[in-house]
Amino acid sequence: MSTTLTNQQFRLASRPAGMPTATNWHFTSSALPALAEGEILVKTIYLSLDPAMRGWMNDTPSYIRPVAIDEVMRAIGIGRVIASRAPAFEVGDIVAGGIGVQQYWSGPANDKSAGFHKIDARVAPLPKFLSVLGMPGMTAYFGLMEVGKPKPADMVVVSGAAGAVGMAVGQIARHQGCRAIGIAGGPQKCNFVVHELGFDACIDYKKDSVRDALKHICPNGVDIYFDNVGGEILDTVLPRLALHARVVLCGAISQYNNTTPVQGPSNYLSLLVKRARMEGMVVFDYAERYPEAVKEMARWMKNGTLKSREDIVEGIENFPQALQMLFEGKNFGKLILQLAPEEA
Ligand SMILES: NC(=O)c1ccc[n+]([C@@H]2O[C@H](COP(=O)([O-])OP(=O)(O)OC[C@H]3O[C@@H](n4cnc5c(N)ncnc54)[C@H](OP(=O)(O)O)[C@@H]3O)[C@@H](O)[C@H]2O)c1
Repeated sequence: MSTTLTNQQFRLASRPAGMPTATNWHFTSSALPALAEGEILVKTIYLSLDPAMRGWMNDTPSYIRPVAIDEVMRAIGIGRVIASRAPAFEVGDIVAGGIGVQQYWSGPANDKSAGFHKIDARVAPLPKFLSVLGMPGMTAYFGLMEVGKPKPADMVVVSGAAGAVGMAVGQIARHQGCRAIGIAGGPQKCNFVVHELGFDACIDYKKDSVRDALKHICPNGVDIYFDNVGGEILDTVLPRLALHARVVLCGAISQYNNTTPVQGPSNYLSLLVKRARMEGMVVFDYAERYPEAVKEMARWMKNGTLKSREDIVEGIENFPQALQMLFEGKNFGKLILQLAPEEA
């Protein structure tokens, strides 16, 4: 079966300067090899498009090795096992793992870099496993709980609030008895954050002064700032920190396509004055604890106190343009690329 299938793939052709464009990719086709003993063939259904992909395209040291030139682009995804010569997986199993930007993944079932594990599709719709029950949800949960260390009545501010990580951060904060304030781009996103997700307020950074809004909404300062965007917004929040505040350094999407040096926080002395802490986090450090977070968050999802929105773009050929959406604020919720229907 597997030898008759053709696999379409996006490979890294060149390293971008600034925003990744179509010229940074090769769209290739290759025949799939027959499965060897211990191998599985997975048909991709959904791929997670993540801001981190921009970092993986750079040839610079990071928490994970860069994607090599000509290598299939790294991506987490969900697929269906359509052939198996491994006892751990059966045809029809729905799995999640490091599929890459390609229609099929084949290889050893126990490949550590792919890390395939079964998904129980009865728990939630499949896209949720790339969203609130997947890597972004885990980032929100462990970033807030372990680095932010929320206490009841804390004032929690999160940027990128209508995005995959941000929308979960505010809702988890509310579950801890905190007040949740979002920062997002545009009235539609801010409305969603407050009226659908239940944040206490949301600041439209494209229209309003973040500085003035924070002064008004958080007169006693910000106890936790969960930073997804870095740059100017981080610099604006720092002088508003409360005593002993925690800044969770999750991401800095405003800086990822810079062709000039990263804009560092010039207001960092606020950390000194407020005896505050700013700490980076990488979600993969918590991989062994994902099940505890998934259990808790699935429970909140079931009782309607944890919501999420997914923004699904169809077709592997749309990968280059879809990836750009993240850096232009064009995604509304967790951005996902659908390659095939869910039905077998
Ligand atoms: N540390 C970790 O382990 C980890 C894991 C996952 C994600 N992250 C980081 O978390 C952040 C959010 O990721 P996500 O997957 O949840 O993405 P996302 O928020 O779903 O999508 C990106 C959003 O960023 C906002 N944005 C883009 N350019 C911006 C700019 N110049 N200034 C301000 N906002 C901008 C846009 O929203 P608006 O329309 O509101 O501007 C856009 O929709 C990223 O920085 C990512 O790298 C870190």
